[in-house]
Amino acid sequence: MQKTRTVFYCKECGYESGKWLGQCPGCHSWDVFVEEPKQKKTTGSARPITVRNEAISLSMVSAEDDERKMTGIQEFDRVLGGGIVMGSLVLVGGDPGIGKSTLLLQVCKELSGRMKVLYVSGEESLKQIKMRADRLGSFGDSLLAISETCLETINELADQIRPDILVIDSIQTMYREEVASAPGSVSQVRECTSLLLHMAKQKGITIFIVGHVTKEGTVAGPRMLEHMVDTVLYFEGENSASYRILRAVKNRFGSTNEIGVFEMQNTGLAEVQNPSEYMLRGKPEGEPGSVVAASIEGTRTILVEVQALICKSNFQMPRRTAAGTDYNRVNLLMAVMEKRLGVELSFCDAYINVAGGMKINEPALDLAIVLAILSGYRNIPVDGRIIAFGEIGLTGEVRGVSQAEQRITEAAKLGYTTCILPYVTMENMKNPAIRLIGIRNVKELTAIMKE
Ligand code: TYD
Ligand code: MG
Repeated sequence: MQKTRTVFYCKECGYESGKWLGQCPGCHSWDVFVEEPKQKKTTGSARPITVRNEAISLSMVSAEDDERKMTGIQEFDRVLGGGIVMGSLVLVGGDPGIGKSTLLLQVCKELSGRMKVLYVSGEESLKQIKMRADRLGSFGDSLLAISETCLETINELADQIRPDILVIDSIQTMYREEVASAPGSVSQVRECTSLLLHMAKQKGITIFIVGHVTKEGTVAGPRMLEHMVDTVLYFEGENSASYRILRAVKNRFGSTNEIGVFEMQNTGLAEVQNPSEYMLRGKPEGEPGSVVAASIEGTRTILVEVQALICKSNFQMPRRTAAGTDYNRVNLLMAVMEKRLGVELSFCDAYINVAGGMKINEPALDLAIVLAILSGYRNIPVDGRIIAFGEIGLTGEVRGVSQAEQRITEAAKLGYTTCILPYVTMENMKNPAIRLIGIRNVKELTAIMKE
């Protein structure tokens, strides 16, 4: 009997290996190798693309932005870098149930009427798609939907229909006949994506691919196709909270720090135009351990509340957690405080939380974290009309941050009256809208707390 040759693939990044490995040399994740039949030949992208392939002077190429199409959903357009680039391949990743299908169906809804849209679902029947669509409102006639999982059939269909926009929901349910392994396996996902890439580039169709992020199981994650697509968007949020954040992690046509904020309602996703107000909803007044920080995400400022709960530890190793910000950064800041301010944090449990569930890794958050910890430790509340931002170095110095004016303007707009910021940043400010307190070192915070 002929033995089928198998190889091992990393289901995170697609790394191929002849034998099983504990750790992937490609992405350094542990226990991610799965055994799959070996592909005889690479297909899809390996095929010659029969477009005119000759070198021409770059100055002759027109790259005007008329190739971009606005969807009308502002938050979505902004994350894409100012609308959809026609002919691009976009991956929308996220946990199951986060709202990827809903978001893309809403995008289809906005575009239908203006463009020919084909929505392919491998997960839901036409009836289920219709039920969801009915909740979202009325659709134009140029939206076609099909429940199908064979990519060759979809390719033929695309040849007949010639859509402008194609949505594949989801890549893990699609399969190609010539690939032996099951849908969702590393080789299927990779081969399917390369065919989609081929379709996007040769036929000029804009393709949105939905990819589920999987923590366990044998389904290949979307990370292994990140390098093949033009744009990677991740849709994230807490399942318990109703807001969702769309984040660009790779974008060949725009910046990657942009975020879009949505709220899941019973009629679909609604745009959140002013995230600061949204994030600060329900903020306690006059409680210790709560400080508002101004953070920049992409091109806009978001005010968030940093909370710190500090209490005496009953363990030899105090418990420390950081939700919504970097755990190691919090530990480092606590070490700086211990050394430079002389507060005995090593006997305390510390729970740090960025309220609202946003994840912020900007160093400008440091000052607010330190202030919240100090306020929590001393049990003295920080005035509710104060905001803080600034980076803290290892000697306790407070270092300058960028876009200070933008942060202060947002704070003034929301009624804050005082801002604690790095001294060097304050020096360059002219006509500030609110009172500024510039500090050089964390030691100066002690005096401010007493004010
Ligand atoms: P869905 O788009 O199916 O998630 P994904 O495609 O990422 O797996 O979203 C599913 C969730 O959204 C589900 O829990 C119900 C909720 N939802 C609403 O709250 N309101 C709505 O109008 C819709 C369509 C869904
Ligand atoms: Mg879905």
